[in-house]
Parts: sequence; C-alpha cells; structure tokens
Amino acid sequence: MHADTTCYLAGPFRELVTMQALPLKGPLNDSALRVIRNGGILWKAGRIEAVADFETLAARPGVTLIEPSVKGVVLPGFTDMHTHIAFGGSRAADFALRNGGSTYLEIAESGGGIWSTVKATRALTVDALAKRTAQRANTLLQQGVTTIEVKSGYGLSVAAELKCLRAIAEARRMTSADLVSTCLAAHMLPSDFNGSAAAYLELMADALLPVIKNEQLAHRVDAFVERSAFSEAQILPYFKKAKAMGFDITVHADQFTTSGSAVAVAVGAKSADHLEHSTGKEIALLAHSDVAAVALPGASLGLGCPFAPARKLLDAGCSVAIATDWNPGSAPMGNLMLQAAVLAAFEKLTNAELLAGITYRAAAALGFKDRGVLAPGYRADFLVYDADGYQEIPYHQGSLQPAEVWKNGTRLTFTD
Ligand code: NIG
Ligand code: FE
Repeated sequence: MHADTTCYLAGPFRELVTMQALPLKGPLNDSALRVIRNGGILWKAGRIEAVADFETLAARPGVTLIEPSVKGVVLPGFTDMHTHIAFGGSRAADFALRNGGSTYLEIAESGGGIWSTVKATRALTVDALAKRTAQRANTLLQQGVTTIEVKSGYGLSVAAELKCLRAIAEARRMTSADLVSTCLAAHMLPSDFNGSAAAYLELMADALLPVIKNEQLAHRVDAFVERSAFSEAQILPYFKKAKAMGFDITVHADQFTTSGSAVAVAVGAKSADHLEHSTGKEIALLAHSDVAAVALPGASLGLGCPFAPARKLLDAGCSVAIATDWNPGSAPMGNLMLQAAVLAAFEKLTNAELLAGITYRAAAALGFKDRGVLAPGYRADFLVYDADGYQEIPYHQGSLQPAEVWKNGTRLTFTD
C-alpha cells in the first residue's frame, strides 16, 4: 500500500503525549503519562519508527525533515468507537418534543424516534447515504478522529440493512478516516415487520448475517437491549448465532433500564455501551469481565439524562472508552473532545483517563492493537495542536481544534 520508504521526521514539538505503557483497565493518574518534551516523531511507510528527543532523531542519517506548522502538542489520532452516522433526515422535532416533556421511550412507542429515521434512510440511494456518511466522517476527522466505527441500524430489513452497510463501504472512498462498520439490524423491531421479535431476529440471523459475512461488509454485530427494542431473552439466541458465525459482539446496554450489560458479559461482548442506568451490580459484572465499558456523553447531553458512571466504572477496574454515539435521535452533536471533556468535568476523570478513553482504550474495544499510542510499530496517526501543553486540550472542551491531522503518515487537508 505504501511504496514510499522515506524516513520522515516531524518536530521539534513542545510536548508529545505518547500514551505508552499504560494499563488497559482501571484508573489512571496524569503522572503516569509519558510526555516527551522537545520531541520528534519518525515514521516510514505509514508506521512509527521512533518517538524520542528531536535532536537525537535528527542526527540519524537519511531522515527527511518535516517542519511542523506549529511547535505545539502532539497526541495520537482519536478513535470514536460508537457512531450511527449513516442516516438520512433529522430528528429536530424529537428534541423539541422531549424538551416539552415527552420521553425518548414515549416518542419511540408512538411511532417516532428510530422508526422515523428508518423511513428517511430507506428513502436515500446508496450513493446519497454514502455521501452523507463520509461528510460526517470528515467532520470528525477534522477534529482529530482518525478511526470511526459506523453502525447500520436505520435499514431494518435485509435489503435496507445491506444498503446501509454498502453505503458505509462506499463512504470509505470519500474519507481518509478508517471506518469500522457494525451491523445493528437489531436496533428495534421494525413497525412494518409482520411477525414477532423472535421471527425478525431469526430472519436477520439466517438471511442477513451470512451475506454480511460473505461480502465482508462488517465483522461486528450490535443490538439495542431495551424496553423499546429487544429483551435479554430475545437477543441471546441472536447473539449466539452471530458469535458462532465469527462476529464480534457489542451491546447498547443499560441506557434507560438495566439488563444489557449482563447480556454483554454473558455473550463475551467486546463492549457494553451507554450504561447511563448501570447500578453497582452492573458495574461489578463489567469490572469482572473483559467487556469494555463505553460512556456516550453525547446521548446524555442530547436527552438530558445522567452520564454513565465513568468514575465508578474506572475505580471498579473497567476499561472505559468514550464515544460520541453521533446519531440523529439522542446524540446529534458529533464532537468527541467536547463530550469527553464535559464527561470528565462531571465524572471527575483525569486527563489521562479522558485521553485513554478516546485513544488506545477505544481502539482496543474495536480490536485494534495498532493505533491510539505513539510508539514504534503503531500507525503514524497523530494530531498537532497549537497549545502550550497537553492540559490545554481537554481544558478548552472541544473549542481547540488540531492544527494538523496526520493519517498513516500523510498530512490531511480539509477543503470545507
Ligand atoms: O445509541 N439507543 C439506541 N440507539 C441510539 C439512538 C438511535 C436513535 O434514537 O436514532 C443511541 O442512543
Ligand atoms: Fe448508539
């Protein structure tokens, strides 16, 4: 893929926050962060060769020097490990209804909510959906999000789910971000399905998942375990079939009522996401498992709900990732640093915990071992901020944008 074997060196930078040698799980003190001052980053063919003192690296023979536009602070590229950016339409009316007193579940039960986005998404062609998906991915990329998970889930028939996943595949050609797709056919029982939840899930497992597998459209399967969607008893057989086909599992868990995180632990999911209503029992379950706990502050902000108990989850020993959940219903904002910094302020997360949640812990929850850390062998995905020190970045709660975004050793330019 990379014919270029030049060794590039960028720097010197005021600070390079490497995220090296930090544990996958549990609380993190800022003093554990390995910050290199006056450092440089050296890479070849899109992979990091060294991150060290700039002068030492510059003395190596045969390096091509790249002068940064700002001396600033370098962070690894971010991973937004939970989004629903493949959608059509708007749910501005839901926001107004909720703020007028209706609840998310009431709107869903009266035929609005996810179902209205399904209708708007089904009305789009693959190309139109791909274009919107790529535009949103590029909005995140400009904020420094170099890896983005994208769910289907607004198709909810075999054909329409395939269309969504094909649109995500097509969107890859219109963005430099890495897009990781997830099948969320189990988002809700579609209103036009003539049958039970069990029959719908059976159809998806038998007629949709094998096609996804064959065409390599996704390697992850998600479900919304909730009163308005699927119960524990309904979803377990579906997840078991998906797992037997080789899919990784992830769960929308404990958003309004509990039980999703117990499902996630029972099926050995990669992550349990949302957790706004998790209690001590669910926190203990997750902490004694290898399921990553994912906070989605954008959904709390969109719905005016409590935040996931990130502090308690970390203290109990979980690996906590933070993602935007960007979707038209509960989380229309799509700003990862803003949301992570607001969560940190409410949940009292250290900067190290915040940064881990959007770098290597988020990447690990997607199964990646090659990103989220600035160290030899990792991808040269990194961000350069015009800042005096790394603390400035969370402190500005999303209003400080990276001056440079690098993906696989290439500096990206943004036209709009
Ligand atoms: O993660 N909770 C379920 N799914 C999305 C919301 C989807 C929607 O409302 O359109 C979420 O919040
Ligand atoms: Fe979600």
